[in-house]
Amino acid sequence: MSYQIAIDGPAGAGKSTIAKELAKRLGFIYVDTGAMYRAMALYLLREGVPMDDSGKISAASQRADITIAYKDGLQQVLLDGENVTTFLRTEEVGNMASVSSANPDVRKKLVELQQNLANRENVVMDGRDIGTCVLPNADVKVYLTASASCRAKRRYEELTAKGETCDLGVIEADIEKRDHQDMTREHSPLRQAEDAVFLDSSKMTIREVVERILVLVER
Ligand code: DC
Repeated sequence: MSYQIAIDGPAGAGKSTIAKELAKRLGFIYVDTGAMYRAMALYLLREGVPMDDSGKISAASQRADITIAYKDGLQQVLLDGENVTTFLRTEEVGNMASVSSANPDVRKKLVELQQNLANRENVVMDGRDIGTCVLPNADVKVYLTASASCRAKRRYEELTAKGETCDLGVIEADIEKRDHQDMTREHSPLRQAEDAVFLDSSKMTIREVVERILVLVER
């Protein structure tokens, strides 16, 4: 039986940083499910599928061939055999992903891929519905969050460190909008699983969060 760690939470809570570090410490694979939804969004954009046509999104999504590979321990997403990992973190792809990830046919296809991976390997998997839908029997479930202002500040610092100009107020408003979309959508909304441990990272360092989760793994 594989060992499964599920980490859910809103955008910008630090899930991927924490999950990557945990996977490294435990020798597990890290599965970034958001990247799979982004790869599907990239496919839909390339196919010219309109954002507001759920029927076309459903149909086109079934033609996309999305697979995962690992290079130097890092997840790579292949779309029809092409490594698209570096194209996934744009605003355009993020906006399409936030709409197309609400589509039940998109979700069904990607959840199957995620479950197959987790059955074969020990995983740290992060997303929005991992503890509630994808891996309901995960060995450890964590709901990782932080205040919207704290998540906005972290994002602002990340962007300004890269030399990008941005506005803290706009970032915070965007985060609040995405939270609302993720938490109120009809299919697999973001919510804490009943048996998940709640962690608010607003006043915690990355190291403190990782150590706290490792204690749960060792129990
Ligand atoms: O975490 P992220 O920003 O890379 O996620 C991209 C989009 O996919 C975002 O709109 C939330 C959605 N998503 C989802 O619906 N379910 C998941 N398990 C992971 C991400």
